Amino acid sequence: MINFKEEIAGIIAGQVEFLTEAEIADIIEIPQDSKMGDYAFPCFRLAKILRKAPPLIAKDIASAIEESDLFDKVEPVNAYVNMFIAKEKLIESTVSEVLSKGDDFGKSDEGQGKKVIVEFSSPNIAKPFHIGHIRSTVIGNSLYKIFDAMGYDVFRINHLGDYGTQFGKMICAYRHWGNAEDVKREPIKTLLSYYTKFHVEVETHPELDDEAREIFAKLEKGEKEEVELWQWFREESLKEFTRVYDMLDISFDSYNGESFYSDKMPRFVKELKEKGLLKESQGAQVVDLEEYGLGTALITKSDGSTLYITRDIAAAVYRKETYNFYKNIYVVASQQNLHFQQWFKILELMGYDWAKDCVHVPFGLVSLEEGTMSTRHGRVVFLEDVLDKAVEKTREIIAEKNQNSDLDIDEVAKEVGIGAVIFQELSNNRIKDYTFKWDKVLNFDGETGPYVQYTHARCASVIKKAGEDTVKKAENTSGLDYGYLTSESAYELTKLLYRFPDVIKDACEKYEPSIVTRHIVDMAQGLNKFYHDEHILTDNDEEKAAKVALVIATKTAIKNGLALLGMKAPERM
Ligand code: ARG
Repeated sequence: MINFKEEIAGIIAGQVEFLTEAEIADIIEIPQDSKMGDYAFPCFRLAKILRKAPPLIAKDIASAIEESDLFDKVEPVNAYVNMFIAKEKLIESTVSEVLSKGDDFGKSDEGQGKKVIVEFSSPNIAKPFHIGHIRSTVIGNSLYKIFDAMGYDVFRINHLGDYGTQFGKMICAYRHWGNAEDVKREPIKTLLSYYTKFHVEVETHPELDDEAREIFAKLEKGEKEEVELWQWFREESLKEFTRVYDMLDISFDSYNGESFYSDKMPRFVKELKEKGLLKESQGAQVVDLEEYGLGTALITKSDGSTLYITRDIAAAVYRKETYNFYKNIYVVASQQNLHFQQWFKILELMGYDWAKDCVHVPFGLVSLEEGTMSTRHGRVVFLEDVLDKAVEKTREIIAEKNQNSDLDIDEVAKEVGIGAVIFQELSNNRIKDYTFKWDKVLNFDGETGPYVQYTHARCASVIKKAGEDTVKKAENTSGLDYGYLTSESAYELTKLLYRFPDVIKDACEKYEPSIVTRHIVDMAQGLNKFYHDEHILTDNDEEKAAKVALVIATKTAIKNGLALLGMKAPERM
């Protein structure tokens, strides 16, 4: 595709020696109101350097840019140079690029040769995999897809919460009140009930706490019976998680969770001591981070057992040594901000300069209409139930719309129902708290997953109706008459397609999938406006071919966009 911004920067760089092309490109703006042009160049910065009035500079620059045939109109307006791209040039460049690249449209090789770790989902075993977990799971998966599209070599880690003193309690409870059949039948709910019972019983039998502590100590020492029980709990939990990951079509390259680092920590405790960072406090070992406003980080308890943070430090070093990452990304709730700030700081104080390459990507809370979730109060919505319900509700809607049709309703209901949940999740700026609402998720008209998928299916149907000959003609992009695509709705839609690769790049730099989501909605709305404003399948073959080419291009871009969110794009629904 023609990179108009670069072209403009090139021309301006030819006029002024003291700014590089890249610096100039940074100054170029895209006006909010497209009536002001497709691009604008403010001359304030040049005016300062040249000691000349901005409008005079704008005039000079405008006349230089006017020479290029890439623009229909170039206007100096006060301190700005407003530029209007030659429509047909942009249209031809965009449509031919999308059609020739197909599934690869939007991808880049910017990240080639660079390893990026995306750690996401990371639920705690033997605890419910609930709607709260959807955020890390879906945002993380999308970031993986986005970094992958940018050419990075991405490695996905599920840092399972599979270690810690709670397993001492769970084993203790299991030995007192548990039985194997129940665990096998319904692992997580059963294990959770043991854990809850433990907390009730310990109120009146405090000696249970000592027992649990001893059990955990045995687990840490690797004693066979405790390790086997723990392993079994882990396996059963993982089976349940995997069922949900399969529904979401999400997978991981590693499930090395907290337990994986249990034998790797003494080295770091020693290292912290040698580097003079550890302090003793009531028998425990801590790192004092007060001078950075980060409080105190507990590294080992008085009984010598390690903590969540110790395992994170060990895991980061392990990842650096094993994968030599370019970036190590953690998709974890904003509630853990302090935790991440603390241990990133500790890595830095230990002298690891790559600490700066560790990135915490936080996100806000998800609550239910009936309030925030609480495992302890039994107010918990299992993710699997949400996904099942979404598929079921979607199935009803689709079956209703497709009576007497040969559509594979079950398959489409899965793609649309699960997609609806994913899309809603990725619609909001990730840092925002939000409330999960069914009617918002499954709406076929609002800015929802079903709406976008429906628009994609609409494209598919237009293409099918157009017939093979027209499609062949449309695909031969050098023979198209792009003059037919200069109407406002066609041109605005084309501009959205043109911007798609930049949108992916922006989402990647900001770790923000919602940037892609919003752009997909814009493209879908653009397509629907074009569809209503224009007669696409006209009798004029030339016109029809050009318009169908734009529909094919839009369908491709929407599909590629949905893929970046981890969603399918059914042909019919
Ligand atoms: N298991 C943790 C939880 O459910 C999340 C783990 C986040 N990752 C990390 N490296 N600390 O809260």
